[in-house]
Amino acid sequence: MRLVLLGPPGAGKGTQASAIVKKYNIPHISTGDILRANIKKGTELGKKAKEYMDKGLLVPDDLVVSIVKDRITGDDCKNGFLLDGFPRTVNQGEALDRELTQMSLKLDRVINIDVEKEVLIERAIGRRICKNCGATYHIKFNPSKEEGVCDICKGELLQRNDDTKETVEKRIEVYIKQTKPLIDYYMEKGLILNVDGSKSIDAIFKEIVKALQ
Ligand code: AP5
Ligand code: MG
Ligand code: ZN
Repeated sequence: MRLVLLGPPGAGKGTQASAIVKKYNIPHISTGDILRANIKKGTELGKKAKEYMDKGLLVPDDLVVSIVKDRITGDDCKNGFLLDGFPRTVNQGEALDRELTQMSLKLDRVINIDVEKEVLIERAIGRRICKNCGATYHIKFNPSKEEGVCDICKGELLQRNDDTKETVEKRIEVYIKQTKPLIDYYMEKGLILNVDGSKSIDAIFKEIVKALQ
């Protein structure tokens, strides 16, 4: 199964992705996670990306497209993959299509999670991420058992640099201008599965699984 998760910042893409890849046994490819890992390691790519990410802006298409091209041609993607946060511009969508066509493959579904702006801001600001394993929590909606400590690995829970109110607002603005046009792009291809992201994490997951059957 080859899937794309589309949606504004804080909509719950990463949260649903974790459950989906477990169920279908496919790799989770999050360009945001890959870029943050590069920042942590201090690579050239990370240095370039950080300038954009801290401002809530998109990293240039050529950088992310080449990350994804490398990744989806990997052996572990033979049975499919889940792209989370890519594509994010129509240009990236077209590049993905060209790459898949070359591989004689196509996307099965584009899951579009939508949530209203006020909720997005609350979700992003309250998000906490495990420093070690990357597990995602929310101080109100999905709290860890012990405050500031990961349930899975006992790692320290941190906030993302770009999860301040100002930066989240900027990211939403960027989403509306640059990413939202992809909904029409995939609608025309008959691939869109619209999901109401305001429901509970569990209810959304059940809805997605049902629709993918
Ligand atoms: P990225 O890391 O992809 O961030 P994003 O798209 O802004 O989305 P988020 O990760 O913030 O939100 P999410 O939808 O995954 O929500 P989550 O599940 O965590 O990208 C970051 C940056 O990298 C970009 O700004 C850009 O600079 C760069 N970048 C990445 N990809 C790029 C690309 N293709 N091109 C160019 N630049 C790129 O949930 C959020 C919170 O809500 C959590 O705390 C969670 O516990 C909680 N929650 C989730 N679901 C629910 C629910 N149903 N009810 C209640 N709470 C919930
Ligand atoms: Mg995410
Ligand atoms: Zn952890």
